[in-house]
Formats: sequence, structure tokens, C-alpha cells
Amino acid sequence: MHGTDHGRRSDHGRIPMPAIRGVVAQTDMLAVVREVVELKKAGASFKGCCPFHAEKTPSFHVNPGLKLYHCYGCGAGGDVIRFVQETRGLNFIEAVEMLAERVGITLERVADRPEDSARRAEAKSARGRMLELDRAAQAWFRGRLQLPEGRKAHAYAESRGLTAATIERFGLGASGIGWTDLLDHLTRQGFSRDDIIAIGLAKIGDKGGTYDRFRDRLMFPIYTAAGDLVGFGGRDLTGDKEVAKYINSSEITLDGEEEHSRFKHFYKKGDCVFGLWQAREAIRRTKTAIVVEGNLDVITLAQAGFDNAVCAMGTALTDAQAKEIKRFADRVALVFDGDNAGRKAAMKAVPVVVAAGLEGSYVVLPQGEDPDSFVRKFGQDAFRTLLDKAPPLIDGFIDALVAESDHSLQANSVILQRAGPLLTAIQDGISRDMARNYLQSQLTKGAIEPHRATFDRYLQRLAPTTPKLEPQQLRPDPTFGEPEVGKLEQDLCAVLVWFPSLCAQAAQYGALDLLEHAGIRLALRDLCAVAREQEVDADTLSGWAQALPDGRARRLILRLLVEAPLCKPDQAQGWLVQVTWRLQERALKQEREQVTAQMKVRDVTPERLAELSTQLSDIMRRLQEFAKAGARQAVAAASGF
Ligand code: UTP
Ligand code: MN
Repeated sequence: MHGTDHGRRSDHGRIPMPAIRGVVAQTDMLAVVREVVELKKAGASFKGCCPFHAEKTPSFHVNPGLKLYHCYGCGAGGDVIRFVQETRGLNFIEAVEMLAERVGITLERVADRPEDSARRAEAKSARGRMLELDRAAQAWFRGRLQLPEGRKAHAYAESRGLTAATIERFGLGASGIGWTDLLDHLTRQGFSRDDIIAIGLAKIGDKGGTYDRFRDRLMFPIYTAAGDLVGFGGRDLTGDKEVAKYINSSEITLDGEEEHSRFKHFYKKGDCVFGLWQAREAIRRTKTAIVVEGNLDVITLAQAGFDNAVCAMGTALTDAQAKEIKRFADRVALVFDGDNAGRKAAMKAVPVVVAAGLEGSYVVLPQGEDPDSFVRKFGQDAFRTLLDKAPPLIDGFIDALVAESDHSLQANSVILQRAGPLLTAIQDGISRDMARNYLQSQLTKGAIEPHRATFDRYLQRLAPTTPKLEPQQLRPDPTFGEPEVGKLEQDLCAVLVWFPSLCAQAAQYGALDLLEHAGIRLALRDLCAVAREQEVDADTLSGWAQALPDGRARRLILRLLVEAPLCKPDQAQGWLVQVTWRLQERALKQEREQVTAQMKVRDVTPERLAELSTQLSDIMRRLQEFAKAGARQAVAAASGF
């Protein structure tokens, strides 16, 4: 929940560039990235698993000094503003606003020219609009919980044993009680009725009237793992059996987002894990998530000290939810109600969890209890014991299957069919062997000899599988169709990007003119021009890199900037000389090639041939000198110094 909730921001006027730079300067890039990616120090930079493509080995690098990121896997890269844009689905201005709010800067707007302001109104992203709307609703819900209008909801929260701190931690609120309380409030604030309906805060009735969707309910805000508020759950306070106990925001897709964008769905129940935002630090710390069924289970557990609890909001756990959890956890404790429905849910959830590469334990509550009632009745120590004593996920799963079976041959082969694929999905070899042994022991317990042999054979076939390959990267190759950047080009870039003070010297040597890649050549010329005017500091450098029009050049340079420099400052000049020398040598060799090619042309005249031979021997002589002389002399000679 970044910053405080507030009403509608003014979005008129332009934010002046220096103000944007000020926001970036104040921003702690590591903190921003760490809200989304777990980072470890790696030399001068930090690395983690890329949030833009699926990977298990970290290739996503951040340079906190320059406030740039780059992923070697998928080529994503940019500055902190771009990072916020890409991870939060916001446009440039919205990302700047979010960062400004983080660091407590109020952005002054300067008057717009009329044509700009029209464009800017359009430029607000659909996602940005919806986030703003949900946040305004959240501010209102929360506020009401403390007002006389929210007394009933507040009393209910207290009756469920929730403390003020817990209510605050989960941002609980009170809906309106009348038909249009929220609608009236939001339209007064200037939000569009269509948006309010689209996002599911209001709906159109049979008679055409518009009314609040959440009435007389305790409100639970639903956040993405990155802390964006995307929806609400509301628990009924009337006790009326005719209405649903919980209702959730409507699922919506956004116009203007590409079909496969992960921001296409603004809110989708099956993508969200309730409580993950609040639990993520505890999950990272313990590497374990406690997965329960209901919102209030999550909240009561957190209050009892189990602050790594999350839930799937009543539906069967989806692959997407398991993947979200896997971003923070290695293990889960799947906790299920001891009734039939709970057992069914558990049987469905185990394969999903295993497929996501999670290990864990299988926790069954006594008949008729859910985690909330259990903890309140028996206390947190009893729950801790339950967690500690729980069998591994697969064992619990096998037990449940065996408990339902009559130990007949048919029943056992059904169990094999259901458990077998799970075993092969376990990635860790030792865990897989243990699970296989357990299945074997459970199945062969009562079985007679020939059956036992059959099972053994079957189980042998569930031999260790090769580890799954990482899923294909989600982005198309960003460099597709663009010319490659050669090694020498890369080296010259590296030296100048890290030591811009050498630009003048590089220009004197004529090194830039020897570059083959037009994008790099233009980029470095530009850098040299900047360096002539001013000292190139981190901000200038990252701004320049960010704005490079050529994709290859931009990506290469952003990558270099997040890497550690390849040499110490006092070696940089020597390095520049070396690179220039090799560039000049390359140019000479190319000249040699061209001349020899022309000599081979069929109808070349004798005069021309003589001319070409002179040229050739001159080139050969220079090349020999190049080989003999040290780099420094060669460069000096070739560039006329
Ligand atoms: P439960 O029916 O187990 O309720 O639903 P609960 O969590 O114990 O509810 P309390 O304790 O009476 O408040 C589990 C979860 O399923 C979702 C909610 O997220 C709920 O927390 N659910 C339930 C719905 O979305 N709609 C419903 O009508 C009921
Ligand atoms: Mn309950």
C-alpha cells in the first residue's frame, strides 16, 4: 500500500523535467525493485530473477548508483521510472507520480498549453485510472470504519477478535449501507460513472438504476504482490441467507492493453493471492507460505503471529496463484478444513502446488474447524504443533487417497494413476525418492505378493526425470532484425561509458569514425558532445542511455552500465588506446580486402593495377608497423599525433 490513500489527484498541467529528475534523485532504486524482485549483491550491482520473463537463475541486474536495470535473459532494461512503468502497468507520468509519492515530493505542475492538456487527459492509462478509483474507494471504506456510519462493521470486526492494528494492517473498511453511498461519493470526486461500474464498485439494476455493489459489508482490499490495490472482497454483515457471504470485485480486462500483457486483466480472482502483499516479507524470511481458504483465516493467523498466511479467496488454487506464491516461497503449508469440501480442495491443490515447484506439508484441521476458529479456540501453540506435525504434501495426498480406497487392485491402480504424475513432477531428487518409497509402502502394505511386484515395476518406471527446462522467455527477441554489435564496438562503448572523461581523447584519435555500427557510432558521438559541454555525472549518463533511439545501442549501453567497469580508472586510458589500435588495425585490414578485391576484377586496366599495388604495399607496410609498434605509438601514428 504505497503512500496514503487519498482523493483524486489533480492531473492538469505538465511536470517540469527538473522536478522529474528530482524525484529520481531522491528515489532508492533498490527499495523500489525489491518490492517486486528479491535481489542479492553481485559485485558493484545487484541481481535477481527477472520480473519480465520466467527464469530460475538470476539474470536481472540493477545498478543502484545509476538507477538502471538490465536483464541478460530477455533484454529488458531502463531506468527506475521505466521499471515502475513496466512492473506496475503505468504510463510515464503515472510512474513519476508514484515515485514522487514514495519519497514525499509534491509535484508542482506548470500550466499546459491547451493542445497538451487535451492530449494528456487521453494519455492517462486505463490501469492508472482504475488504480486511482480503487484507491479512492479504499480511502472511503477505511475512513467509514472509524465513523458512526461504520459502527456495525467495526463491531463485527471486533466480534471476530480483530485488533485495531490488524484492521490497519489489512486495511479493512466498511461499505455503505444505503444504495448509492459510495457511488455518490466517487462521482462527487469526479470519477466517471462508467469506470465505477466497469470496475465493479457499482452495478446497473434491472430497472436501469445504478447502485453500489457492496452494501452492508466488511471490506477487504485485495492487493497484487507488488502492492497495487486491484479489488475488494466484502463480507456480508446482515446474516441474510439470501445474499452471498462474500462478494468480490468484478473481473475486468483493460482496453488499450495488449492481449497477452500481464496487465490486460486489471482484476482476476484466479491471479490474486489474498494477503500475499502483507505476508511477503515473512514468506521470504521463512521461505514458507501458509495457504488457507478464507480471508479471515489469513487475518486471524497473522494476528496470532503466523504472518506468512495467504489464501486463494475460496476458489481452487490456480496455477497462476501457485506461481505467485513460488516467487517468494520454497515451501507451503496447505491447510484445509477438516470437512469434505476441505479435503476435496486439498486434493485439487496439491498437484497445482507441486507443479509450481513448491514443496510443503499437508495440514488437516479437525472436523468443523477452519484456521480462524481453530486458533481462537485452541490457541497459537496448538496451531504451531499442527503445522510441525504435518506430513509432507505428497504423503498427505497419498494418505487421503489410501483412506478413500478399499485396498483392492483397482483402487490401488487408481491411486497410482493419480499420485504417479505428482511424483515425477517433484524436482528435488531426494524428496522424489522419499515420496516414491512412501507410496510404495502404503500401497504394498496389505497387498499380496504378485501385486507388490507389479507396483514395484510401475514405481521403478517413475524414475528420476530430467529437470524441466526453463519456460521459454515471454518476450520476443528484442534485437530481432537489428544489426549485431561487434566486439570492438562493445569495448569502445564500455570504456567511454564508464570513463566519459576520455571522450575528448577518443574523438581526437578518430576512434568513433572507425565504428561500423551506426547506432553505436551516433550514440557515442552524442556522448562526446555532452561530455564537451559538462562533466558527465550518473544522472546525465543514465538519461542519455535511456533516450538512445537505436535499440541495440541502448540495450548494450544499459547493460554495460549495470556491469562493473572492466578496469580501474588508471588503466582506462591504456584500454582506450588498445581498443583504438584494434579498430585502426581492423580498418586497415578492411582496406586491404577492398584493394585486393579490386585487383581481381577482370577488366582492370594496367594503370589501375599499378595504382592498386602501390596502395596495397602501403597498407601492408602500415600493418606491419602496427604489429611491431606498441599500441600507443601505433595509435599516435595512425591518428596523426
Ligand atoms: P468460507 O465459506 O470457508 O468462509 O469461504 P470463511 O472464510 O470461513 O468466512 P467467515 O469466517 O464466515 O467470514 C472461504 C473463502 O471463500 C470466499 C471468501 O474469500 C472466503 O474467505 N468466498 C466464500 C466467496 O468468495 N464467496 C462466498 O460466498 C463465500
Ligand atoms: Mn471462517
